[in-house]
Amino acid sequence: MAHSLGHGTLRFIGAFKSSKIESWQSFTWRGLHFANPLGVAGGLDKNALLMRGLWSLGAGFLEIGTVTPKPQKANPGKCFDRDIQTESVWNHLGFPNDGGEKILQRILQIKRPYPTPIFVNIGKNRDTALPRAHEDYIHLIEKFAPVADAFVINISSPNTKGLRELLHPVRFQEFLRPVIAAAQNIPVLLKLSPDVTDDELRSCLDISTALGISGWVLTNTTIERNDLTKKLYPPDGGVSGRPLAARAIEMLKIANSHLGNQRQDKLIVSVGGVMSAEDVFERLRLGAQLVQIYTALVFNGPTFFHEVSYQARQT
Ligand SMILES: Cc1cc2nc3c(=O)[nH]c(=O)nc-3n(C[C@H](O)[C@H](O)[C@H](O)COP(=O)(O)O)c2cc1C
Repeated sequence: MAHSLGHGTLRFIGAFKSSKIESWQSFTWRGLHFANPLGVAGGLDKNALLMRGLWSLGAGFLEIGTVTPKPQKANPGKCFDRDIQTESVWNHLGFPNDGGEKILQRILQIKRPYPTPIFVNIGKNRDTALPRAHEDYIHLIEKFAPVADAFVINISSPNTKGLRELLHPVRFQEFLRPVIAAAQNIPVLLKLSPDVTDDELRSCLDISTALGISGWVLTNTTIERNDLTKKLYPPDGGVSGRPLAARAIEMLKIANSHLGNQRQDKLIVSVGGVMSAEDVFERLRLGAQLVQIYTALVFNGPTFFHEVSYQARQT
């Protein structure tokens, strides 16, 4: 009910309130201007229904999706829960969305220039076999090329069976090469899982750099459970929010130091357990150019973007 109420309210706000994107730590990357570096993580606006609402809250950029080629429903059974004490959310959704065509038509109704850059997060349909997964991603890249400022390749969700196997070195290169090529001059970012080992992370960074990736989103939800979340949630599904913060920070540090001079103009987006303005500033200090939130909006409410912007302007 909270989920539906939140969505309804955002759509209502978007219909009546104009965009209010405050400027702080503005920068331009590959021709995209970010008035501020705090945006919305994938999964919050899966169907491009909340864009105006999120702009009116002050988001510095949006990520639509995860979009799949065909529409699909959520996984059966309970697939969403939250815990106030641990400030965490558990989900087992598995890319429910209206499908590429419908979502594209919604975005096309919004005139360019958009108030902020728009990333489109893409994934494969549940029934697409892994060896053919790249076909789903290429189809979506070609479809969304007229509206996407960047693509986020999601092969890190724990809720689509087998998806994370695409990160395995054997499949990774042959999957990623044609996907990056299809995007031509539109930047492609890769969203990684927090559940890889540090060595696997370094190897993903190296391989994707060699294939011409434009950046990384670190990280998706985790299948790891700590002593508290183990008691709260089932073993399958992904946990987000505060329990994810330590690993998201660790991965940001590893990526930053591993890439070193190779990093050049590649973008690092930090996401996972960013729950306060101080958390946002910490991720920026640690080398992220952009920061995203999802769970913070569940616990802190819609004023989060303005609060962070206010604090950023005080310092
Ligand atoms: C309910 C829910 C649905 C999500 N759906 C998606 C999704 O469709 N695609 C995706 O890439 N990430 C999805 N995520 C992951 C978020 O984008 C983000 O990586 C993760 O929640 C960590 O950030 P947070 O701690 O700020 O929530 C979802 C997260 C939640 C809580």
